Amino acid sequence: RIPIWLDCDPGHDDAIAIILAACSPKYQLIGISTVHGNASLEKTTYNALSVLTSIGKENEIPVYKGSSKPLIREPSYAPNIHGESGLEGSNLLPKPKVKAYENGYIEAIYKAILDYKDELALVATGTLTNIAKIFIKYPQAKFFLKKLSIMGGGINVFNWSLNSEFNIWCDPEAANIIFKDFILNEKTILIPLDLTHKAIATIEIEKKILSNSITNFRQLLYDLIIFFKKTYIEQQGFIKGPPVHDPLAVAVLLPFYNLEYENYPLEFKFNTYKLQIIENGPESGKLIILDNNFQNGIKVGYDMNINNFWNIVLETIQIADKT
Ligand code: BDR
Ligand code: CA
Repeated sequence: RIPIWLDCDPGHDDAIAIILAACSPKYQLIGISTVHGNASLEKTTYNALSVLTSIGKENEIPVYKGSSKPLIREPSYAPNIHGESGLEGSNLLPKPKVKAYENGYIEAIYKAILDYKDELALVATGTLTNIAKIFIKYPQAKFFLKKLSIMGGGINVFNWSLNSEFNIWCDPEAANIIFKDFILNEKTILIPLDLTHKAIATIEIEKKILSNSITNFRQLLYDLIIFFKKTYIEQQGFIKGPPVHDPLAVAVLLPFYNLEYENYPLEFKFNTYKLQIIENGPESGKLIILDNNFQNGIKVGYDMNINNFWNIVLETIQIADKT
């Protein structure tokens, strides 16, 4: 199994990333850290605990509170997309039964990296503040990490400013700490909007989530998707449904660990780039390709078998529903 640490800001699509990492038999979710982003740190932490409670894993997987603001700027949230709570849309979200660790996320992640030396995958589905801080405090950690999978950025597709993606835009300085590091570059997989906008939760997917047996858990997921769909239609001009960005960053690890689902190969395709982020001015958050064929560069995804991605997610929902 793939040992994973998930750093996230739930978030509707983060919630699905949590479920995939916690319930698919391909992964072992070691811990979760939360970050400001879709909503305040308090809210994203509450949401992470609530999602874990909905799958009965709240005592198994520790949640650590991470950073409440970017490295040097003020935080910005996305209530227009995820609602005020960051995970709006259902009254079936359970009240968390446990608390998050208030402190110590950097040490906890560093320990996980050492415990699973050359094996751990760090997955970031929020802004990159927490991740940057780990490598600022423990630069040697990068040598022992196996993969860093990030949902963020856009090459030709954007969703926040005219030329940026939300996760990167929120803390471009943090992103540059990772993007400027040659060792981390080699280990990093980036899932940009260009790819995530292909992973739409269409009506067919909605129906499959609800399936014939309407359990509380399936109804909860359905409610969340319907809320997400509404904001994406109203705010981002989507027609067929919302793009479910974050679980792609979890799924993409499978080929890199030779653990693909036999029936659902992901056929992941990527380019290797040397990247940098513009930090200031009107283009802040924009991704610049310094070299579009950089051998040890960041693996930037541009295609995946989305049908099989959904098959994996749906199969995992089936498992999660029974737990
Ligand atoms: C990213 O921004 C957040 O709103 C989503 O959860 C996703 O991680 C997409 O730009
Ligand atoms: Ca997210």
